[in-house]
Amino acid sequence: MRIVIVTIFPELFVPFLETSLLGRAIQKKLMEVDVRQLRDFTDDAHRVVDDEPYGGGGGMVMKAEPWIRAVRELSVPGKTRRVMLSPRGRRLDDAKIRELASRPELLLLCGRYEGIDERVRKTVVDEEISIGDYVLSGGEVAAMVLTEAVSRQIPAVIGDPASVENESFRNGLLDYPQYTRPAVVEGLEVPEVLLSGHHAEIARWRKGQALRATREKRPDLLAGSAAEEGGPSSD
Ligand code: ADE
Repeated sequence: MRIVIVTIFPELFVPFLETSLLGRAIQKKLMEVDVRQLRDFTDDAHRVVDDEPYGGGGGMVMKAEPWIRAVRELSVPGKTRRVMLSPRGRRLDDAKIRELASRPELLLLCGRYEGIDERVRKTVVDEEISIGDYVLSGGEVAAMVLTEAVSRQIPAVIGDPASVENESFRNGLLDYPQYTRPAVVEGLEVPEVLLSGHHAEIARWRKGQALRATREKRPDLLAGSAAEEGGPSSD
């Protein structure tokens, strides 16, 4: 898959795209990420991308024309899904990540300041996505969140596909707790079942722990789901 990111701060993405799993995936051409400077799509000597808001109020608004020009030039109609990152968007979740990962190409618009002129959304954006109910200084970090989560849906990016299958949200539950050596830390022992080698028992314990964690921390995920059936087992 290919992801095009449009921003006024392309340099923010350099270490992000060179490091760890994502860096390796890009190097191996399992995915392509192209970061573009919005200012390259201005037509004035000062490469201005913002202006004062109509109607007054504080801050600056990103001008429509550079964005419209950039999106039209960098996307392919009928192929590219054009996503604006903004706190006014629908909240990102695992289902949306999977849907976006199934598309051949994404174009991510990273806004700054008080937002982007509404006519951009109306003319060249397919959907507006927020990564949570808080306001960032711009869409860049949100675009990184989306890019990393989408990359994990490409089986070859993750060495072990089972780790994606088992992780939080995939079955509507938070993940079960993990332990590694040493067997005792600060007087806390690894639950005995994990040392037993009994795979069925371990699977049952993990399911119970996942249910317990979800019930305690994210009961909203359980509302109306079938995951509760059977109930959790004890520690
Ligand atoms: N830009 C600023 N805040 C944001 C958020 N919560 N999600 C996505 N983009 C943003």
